[in-house]
Amino acid sequence: MKNLTWTLALALALGFGACKGSGDEKKEQTNPEEQTKKMELLERAKLYFKPLPAVALAEHNEITEEKVKLGKILYFDNKLSETGNISCNSCHDLNTFGVDNLPVSPGDDGTLGTRNSPTVFNAAFHTTQFWDGRAKDVEEQAGMPITNPVEMMMVDEDYTVNRLKTSNAYADLFKAAFPNDADPVSFENLKLAIGAFERTLVTPSKFDEFLNGNIDAMSLEELSGMETFITTGCIACHKGEVLGGGALQKFPLFGSYEEFTGATVVDYGKYEETKVESDKHLFKPQSLRNVEKTYPYMHDGKVESLEEAVRIMGLTSLNKTLSDKEIASIVTFLKTLTADIPEDVKQAPDELLTIWQ
Ligand code: HEC
Ligand code: HEC
Repeated sequence: MKNLTWTLALALALGFGACKGSGDEKKEQTNPEEQTKKMELLERAKLYFKPLPAVALAEHNEITEEKVKLGKILYFDNKLSETGNISCNSCHDLNTFGVDNLPVSPGDDGTLGTRNSPTVFNAAFHTTQFWDGRAKDVEEQAGMPITNPVEMMMVDEDYTVNRLKTSNAYADLFKAAFPNDADPVSFENLKLAIGAFERTLVTPSKFDEFLNGNIDAMSLEELSGMETFITTGCIACHKGEVLGGGALQKFPLFGSYEEFTGATVVDYGKYEETKVESDKHLFKPQSLRNVEKTYPYMHDGKVESLEEAVRIMGLTSLNKTLSDKEIASIVTFLKTLTADIPEDVKQAPDELLTIWQ
């Protein structure tokens, strides 16, 4: 109960979940016919979508204020990379919707990776992490880039922990976050802290207001886009709270994806990790929250516009050639998933300036 109360307090402190008054937006004068249509669409939407909760709770990682604070500092700390050039925030910049807007990202020594950096906002809701689902949750995932040879390049976990132990400030922060641990500065606790922080990175938008019953939060045009999204079949893979992030799917189901990007190397998704034949071409349907802002698209970041991404999806996942009008309508809907993210969420923590002094 104590934890729940805290969780709600956190949500409010972060400014999430709070009612965003329709403020300067002009109130649409909806006639009774429009109201009925919107009510019908709300019922339909509820069959497939859910509003975002305030935070992504997990039984194995209780969210506490101290853990989230530590997690955010670690998230922004360049010292988690070998030469100190990059932090999690370099590739997943909270100022730009949790991505770097690059096709692929440079690691600590500038070497480029092979896959696009997905957003960390709302990632905790995914049933697996990475494009190929090779990590089970944000806690497991958080440990992996630190020792990855083309990402943060730290020698190993012990080396990372030993570096953290040279900071007295970190010793205090870990102690506060894990008060019952005899040796709180550990790699496990680092993963839990970053995971707890990521569980607060939740971004509701006007779509949530609509799902919560405010039918005037979305225009008929936007709702018509939602209808197109549903009837076209996108909801087969993009549904729930984050419109995706569920079971891996074969991509492409129809034709070849590389023909659109001109890529000469084929990324086989989950197979790259497991080398099991039946895992070939398995990818996670990416969640679509803030998708307007998380360009470029797809696992290789080779698709620049959202319209093009939607067109390719129609062809490769549904075997449908969508008209320009259908694409525009779907994109109008997808833009309602863009959130207004509070300033304090995006800002680097002040502690960063003194943590290594
Ligand atoms: C050099 C760039 C880079 C750095 C630094 C980096 N990441 Fe990533 N991150 C990526 C890429 C690229 C992927 C996708 C890789 C894949 O799917 O194979 C990814 C995937 C993820 C995902 C999965 C999201 C999803 O939709 O599946 C999460 C969560 C994440 N990173 C969090 C972090 C955290 C936390 C840190 C710091 C400890 C971090 N990343 C550091 C590039 C980076
Ligand atoms: C059969 C499952 C499936 C269906 C149906 C489907 N998608 Fe996807 N979607 C995926 C997968 C898998 C990916 C990840 C592709 C990759 O790995 O590059 C994806 C990625 C996307 C992306 C790129 C997201 C990003 O951040 O890069 C968008 C946009 C998208 N889908 C929109 C749609 C739309 C709109 C429809 C309906 C026209 C649709 N999808 C239908 C499975 C599906």
